[in-house]
Amino acid sequence: MQSDNNDYLQLILPGDKSIAHRVLILTSFIKGVHQISNLPKNEDVLITLDILSRYGLEYKFSNNLIIINSNNMLFKNATIDCNDSGTTARLLIGYLAGLNVNATIKGSRPLSKRPMRRIINPLKDFGVDIESNNFQLPVKLNKSSNLKPFNFRLEIPSAQVKSALILYAMCINGKSILSGKTQTRDHLELLLADLGYPITIDSDKIEITGNVHFSKQIDIKIPGDISSASFIVCASLLTEGSHVRIKNVCINKYRIGFLNAAVKMGAKINILNNKLAYGEAVGDIDIHYSKDLKGIEVDSAEIVKMIDEIPILSVLACYAKGDTIINGVKELKVKESNRVLAIIKNIQSMGGDAELINDSLIIKGNKKLYNTTIKSFNDHRIFMSFYIANRIIGKNVDYDISDLSYNKSFPDFKSVIERVFR
Ligand code: S3P
Repeated sequence: MQSDNNDYLQLILPGDKSIAHRVLILTSFIKGVHQISNLPKNEDVLITLDILSRYGLEYKFSNNLIIINSNNMLFKNATIDCNDSGTTARLLIGYLAGLNVNATIKGSRPLSKRPMRRIINPLKDFGVDIESNNFQLPVKLNKSSNLKPFNFRLEIPSAQVKSALILYAMCINGKSILSGKTQTRDHLELLLADLGYPITIDSDKIEITGNVHFSKQIDIKIPGDISSASFIVCASLLTEGSHVRIKNVCINKYRIGFLNAAVKMGAKINILNNKLAYGEAVGDIDIHYSKDLKGIEVDSAEIVKMIDEIPILSVLACYAKGDTIINGVKELKVKESNRVLAIIKNIQSMGGDAELINDSLIIKGNKKLYNTTIKSFNDHRIFMSFYIANRIIGKNVDYDISDLSYNKSFPDFKSVIERVFR
């Protein structure tokens, strides 16, 4: 996974989680034998894989490769458990609705508290027979004879909802059009276009033709996960003398908000070896220890590009001079935890200064911080962010040892991050 170079630490990360969910679902959509290398074996992705295998998807891991046979799949009546994975739940609700099967989609208690109205309401409009527990999981799909293609305007900038609706559209006869807030991570669109599927992507609209005869063997290497990379970037920036290079990371333009914000703060980050792979921008992230970081103001329009990185950006802000103001944070309240609250609580307990004013998170940097016990709220990104915040101060990070929340996205987090601090 990683190797030391004479001058710098070189890391290669498991593949991007968002891309992995989408590739797996596509292998089930296109009957055939497919292969994926660098599939991340984190809990969320393994849940999507497990659910698809219940519908007959066969797979075999061989080193860093997974061979998938979807020839014998049958989407029969089933109850599926998405555990903690919101991406699995939302994407599969759209997909199974389009496949027009009876299905019950359930999840863990925390996932069952997360909003599903954003996906239920549009699907209802398109003729899907869908029941829910007051717009939360479990969601029940009943076969319908009224399924229609759509012309729909997205009001929430959510890639999960956008992808769910695209998956629905791919199963339905005719052309569907998505407009509005489509400017979010576009991994599914790029993958489909790269495979030659009939989809057109404009800056303000996406058109998808459904129920076409489409066959193609998927053979893809998933680039490294930029969200996992962001933790390493922060740790390296704050560690005296550090020089780290993370190879072959997905640098999709809707995912690099954290890197852009860090550079604006004065971070020494360079992207090397830019290339396109399977439609995605990929590059090596080169990071040097950067002292004298300054606080910045983040515009609410930038939030979608760093939606999962606000916790780690907040940690970086604690070690920068001056205030950092992050505008437009309300979506963070409905993630794996209420991340606004989780960030503020952890920073305050370390002696730092963070508060929410209206929809802006304000962090006063350069306060003297102290080690405290991490309170992860069972949220992987909160755990990893505050592991780093504490680890910067001292070697002994205090947390509940039964807290394995980071397995959701980055099971090797602790061993990899310790390499940076060495
Ligand atoms: C994701 C989209 C984002 C992100 C989540 C993964 C995806 O959620 O926070 O971790 O893979 O589509 P939203 O669509 O709710 O913004």
